Amino acid sequence: MATVSASMLSCDFSAMGRDLERIQIAGADMAHLDIMDGAFVPNITFGAPVIKKLLPFKKIPFESHLMIENPERYINDFRDAGSDIIIVHAEATRHLDRLISQIKETGAKAGVALNPATPLSAVSEVLGNIDILLLMTVNPGFGGQKFISYVTEKVSQAAKIRNDKGLSFLIETDGGIDGTTGPAVAALGCDILVSGSYIFRSPDVKKAIDSLKNA
Ligand code: DX5
Ligand code: ZN
Repeated sequence: MATVSASMLSCDFSAMGRDLERIQIAGADMAHLDIMDGAFVPNITFGAPVIKKLLPFKKIPFESHLMIENPERYINDFRDAGSDIIIVHAEATRHLDRLISQIKETGAKAGVALNPATPLSAVSEVLGNIDILLLMTVNPGFGGQKFISYVTEKVSQAAKIRNDKGLSFLIETDGGIDGTTGPAVAALGCDILVSGSYIFRSPDVKKAIDSLKNA
């Protein structure tokens, strides 16, 4: 069984609360919130005030994926807005160790994300300090992109390191995850599947979520 984190990037932004309710009823385990600043990635989405507006609808953990430069400036804002997990990109900060501590001090779980071309060695020193390792399976910035298959090798490597070192971080993949790629990465040791367009474009949202859960 995989954990399914439904990416709200593919929801109807004019009715985010309603769409959050939809995926909750359909059995999503978490809501994945993609924050883009137009600098770290070539797209802009929404910030903490918008997440705060979702709180009256919230029944599952919120996972904020910060695709922003210098994320240390906004950790408290995203925590105050109700984020249970805060994920930052290793490529977006000079002081990753400090940033992980900063996230944990707020009481949130700490995740670190890697772009497809960033090797695992970029985070090898901190794997014992994080709750989640997010391996991007597309170049971040947009929903609906094609899964980059070479990242599967990194999923296997991460699972091996976790096993060899007796560590407990969860492995998550994000980008192009559907009924084929989801089970493929789950079989390699991925615990959490982020999926946006596959879920929201499906005529049967529950069926799509179930197909990932059973991966
Ligand atoms: C991409 C985002 C993803 C995105 C995934 O930059 O981080 O979370 O919503 O969308 P799909 O599942 O459509 O690839
Ligand atoms: Zn994401």
